[in-house]
Amino acid sequence: MCGIVGYLGKGRALEVILDGLRRLEYRGYDSAGVALVASGKLQVVKSVGKIRDLERRIWALSGEEAYHLGIGHTRWATHGRPNETNAHPHVAGPIALVHNGIIENYLEIRKELELAGYTFQSDTDSEVVAQLVRFYYQGDLFQAMGKAIDRLEGSYALAVISEEEPQVLVGTRKDSPLVLGLGEGEYFLASDVPAILPYTRRIVLLENWDRVVVNPQGVVVVGADGKKVDRPFQEITWSMALAEKAGYKHFMQKEIFEQPRALADTIGAYVSPAKGDIFFPEGELGEGVFSRIVLVACGTSWHAALVGRFWIEAQARVPVDVEVASEFRARNPILDGGTLVIPISQSGETADTLAALRIAHEKGARTLAVCNVVGSSIAREAQGVIYSYAGPEIGVASTKAFVTQMVILYLFSLKLGLVRGMLERGDVSWRLKEVLSLPRKMEEVLSHEEDVSTLARELYHVQDFLYLGRWLNYPIALEGALKLKEISYIHAEGYPGGEMKHGPIALIEEGLPVVAIAPRDVVYEKMVSNVEEVRSRGGQVILVGFSGDPLEQRVDRFLEVPPVDGTLTPFLTVLPLQLLAYYIADKKGCDVDQPRNLAKSVTVE
Ligand code: M6R
Repeated sequence: MCGIVGYLGKGRALEVILDGLRRLEYRGYDSAGVALVASGKLQVVKSVGKIRDLERRIWALSGEEAYHLGIGHTRWATHGRPNETNAHPHVAGPIALVHNGIIENYLEIRKELELAGYTFQSDTDSEVVAQLVRFYYQGDLFQAMGKAIDRLEGSYALAVISEEEPQVLVGTRKDSPLVLGLGEGEYFLASDVPAILPYTRRIVLLENWDRVVVNPQGVVVVGADGKKVDRPFQEITWSMALAEKAGYKHFMQKEIFEQPRALADTIGAYVSPAKGDIFFPEGELGEGVFSRIVLVACGTSWHAALVGRFWIEAQARVPVDVEVASEFRARNPILDGGTLVIPISQSGETADTLAALRIAHEKGARTLAVCNVVGSSIAREAQGVIYSYAGPEIGVASTKAFVTQMVILYLFSLKLGLVRGMLERGDVSWRLKEVLSLPRKMEEVLSHEEDVSTLARELYHVQDFLYLGRWLNYPIALEGALKLKEISYIHAEGYPGGEMKHGPIALIEEGLPVVAIAPRDVVYEKMVSNVEEVRSRGGQVILVGFSGDPLEQRVDRFLEVPPVDGTLTPFLTVLPLQLLAYYIADKKGCDVDQPRNLAKSVTVE
């Protein structure tokens, strides 16, 4: 996790770095810092807390008007507590360095450097890298960084400066993201594109092992083999508005309301309504001859995978396993050339999902990623990729990425069903019609936000929630509970309705809020029984169901969604649950976009 920014150029280093760090706060926010070079001297300011806390301490800089060179960091602690000493940048002699990732062999290198007389201030693995660069430094920062990274095991994105080379910025990456921005006489390094988008749209996605050196003469990128490489830039076309709050109080709120647009864009990228067909990038499905599919992901993306399994098995008749990435990699999974492994990841940088993808390659499986971030590690390493078009998701709680992941899995199941001869063209065409109606129906659900916010005002003080769903809506129960937990810190459990009688029913007591997801689908009657079981034990039932459902009269609260084909309900039922979590967290005064202990992109194992 952690976010890094580097700048070399026209004298606005401080402004650009602070601005970039604000946009990277989603990656970590327990401490932050900047290092700038002025009059041949390093100046460093750090602070515990968020970027706004760092800004309050900027007075400590010497007051120079224009800084031409600098680096900055926002931290999510891995090694060492979140205090000022452990905050980045780490300084070693003339060197200052920021790091995102984990250095696995840092203790060994630290011991070696201590024996050579080096002293350490912090408990971090990152300071070891700074000291190692210093160890190799003989006036050429690029060379010293190259020697240092040859010693490192683990993951890193680094930006490094030296007060002895006030016109040089260097950086490198391995398994942690780093992009290079090309401006007019200005250069930027950052953990992701939105951090520097206000300053340039020309972006180079650096590859693993790339080393980059920037000076007033330009940029040189050296690849893994030590030879100069030509990495073409991409012109970023999406607007900055997508990465800003646009009048909403929080990114999460904005992203919830963007979902109809995100879904429409993703559908639009792959569906031809005229042809009644789906077109994925050429060759992604081949002949569809897989004996098995493994969906692998973490968190909310794992919930999307759980929903996707129903569709793929039903429509393409291929057995599907769904795996939590960290568990998958822990147990030497059985894979072969007949298995298609699909890693699903919004960020494309989640360490466990990336590791699962690599295991899949080692074992000879085929791979096809579902990712939201273009050029991310998972997108690049997989043999094929289907991108979602959610746009940048900034709120730590995933919302719009989730619905776009689901729609890709749905379209994938239809296409695979067609390719394998399990579905007729006619089946696909009426199902696509239903899919195309989803964005409008989502708008309709979101238009009832006031009902949800009223409910949130009544329930925000509650300690526990239970979420029940069956079949396609069991993963939605899990997702509703996860959303509430992560942003409001309220304990919530998601359960399959049928399992309630095997344990969780004991939790039900007078007034316990139970969110029952019961659209009129093949398991509706069974959910009705669950609702009655909860009511008879005094639980407070919040029903998510189709408009006009007669159960409305028998429950405490009713959150309606418009009727839709029974296999597509998750796209609608998840929306009131996202809104409920959002309004409860906001009412409680929680930091909705940056909940405690979390980070958007989990690049540690
Ligand atoms: O970027 P990814 O989709 O790989 O992220 C996976 C999880 O870390 C993520 O979904 C997480 O659970 C969210 N905070 C949930 O809202």
